[in-house]
Amino acid sequence: MTYQPNPDRYAKMVYNRCGKSGLRLPAISLGLWHNFGGDANHSNKRAICQTAFDEGITHFDLANNYGPPPGSAETAFGEILREDFANHRDELIISSKAGYRMWAGPYGEFGSRKYLIASCDQSLKRMGLDYVDIFYSHRFDPETPLEETMGALDHIVRSGRALYAGISSYNSDKTRQAAAILKELGTPCVIHQPSYNMINRWVEHDGLKDTLKELGIGSIAFTPLAQGMLTNKYLKGTPEGSRATQGKSLKSEFLSDKTIANIRKLNDIAERRGQTLAQMALAWVLRDGGITTALIGASKPSQVTDCARAVDNLDFTKEELAEIDKYADEENINLWAKSSEG
Ligand SMILES: NC(=O)c1ccc[n+]([C@@H]2O[C@H](COP(=O)([O-])OP(=O)(O)OC[C@H]3O[C@@H](n4cnc5c(N)ncnc54)[C@H](OP(=O)(O)O)[C@@H]3O)[C@@H](O)[C@H]2O)c1
Repeated sequence: MTYQPNPDRYAKMVYNRCGKSGLRLPAISLGLWHNFGGDANHSNKRAICQTAFDEGITHFDLANNYGPPPGSAETAFGEILREDFANHRDELIISSKAGYRMWAGPYGEFGSRKYLIASCDQSLKRMGLDYVDIFYSHRFDPETPLEETMGALDHIVRSGRALYAGISSYNSDKTRQAAAILKELGTPCVIHQPSYNMINRWVEHDGLKDTLKELGIGSIAFTPLAQGMLTNKYLKGTPEGSRATQGKSLKSEFLSDKTIANIRKLNDIAERRGQTLAQMALAWVLRDGGITTALIGASKPSQVTDCARAVDNLDFTKEELAEIDKYADEENINLWAKSSEG
């Protein structure tokens, strides 16, 4: 059946300016890291994207390696674009990235000009696109001069392959250096994509959050739900089929008794606010306008709807924030720490 988007979608979502750029992004964005690989059901993928768009979510985030197998999420998204969004390309912000291992040999990962430009071309082909809206350096490369990696992003933008450039999981210091190089080249760093949630607060300790504000760079916080831990999913054990049972990125040791006890306390606060824990976790990431958009993942459409409704209550009292701080303890769940170590 032909998909007809909800005509009221733009009234339902909040759109935030991405740093000092002209780009506005929905407060909630959807990422296709999990649940869009060759091992997942296509009609569910389609339904997740349709539900997101119906909720006013205009931003879809991909990367070369999303799958499994790597590349399959972009291929699936390309099909969905043709099936459901062919008339809506100009309403969408689509991103991709390169940085992690994508193909064999010395040119298949990290930050060389050779890898970034070839990978961007492959991503465009898989999605059937002329351009992506944002292209990211997915991780800092300690062995390639930053000038080369940023020069590749500048070239990708100037050659029309992408409209905006971004970086992901760079620390505050490296972000300053990268942004200065991009500024000099005339292609501003418009967005940074770090991990950030109530139990992974490195962007606060590192100073990155303040740096982004100071430099006028927007931010998109990934894993805002700590891969599902900051939802009501694991409060009473580990449900079958959940990410924690899949032996992928959500390690069972992350779900320690202490962490679950804290998450139950956070859930009590969310209930008092009349929200689900997922909604409160997203509102918390977005508090004070410090983050432009919270980048969620979803395994079913109902999760997208639940998350999108976070925008119905984004405000916190000082007392609520102080109470959250008691339980929002830093846990050792940041799988991306190595990149930001520099
Ligand atoms: N730049 C980078 O290096 C990087 C790294 C990682 C991720 N990312 C980006 O960030 C995106 C999001 O990452 P993520 O998927 O880990 O984010 P997340 O939003 O923290 O976790 C998503 C998972 O939480 C559960 N969930 C979502 N909404 C729920 C709800 N309302 N109620 C109950 N459970 C809910 C689902 O788990 P189940 O599957 O168990 O149902 C879902 O798969 C990725 O798709 C990718 O675009 C970027």
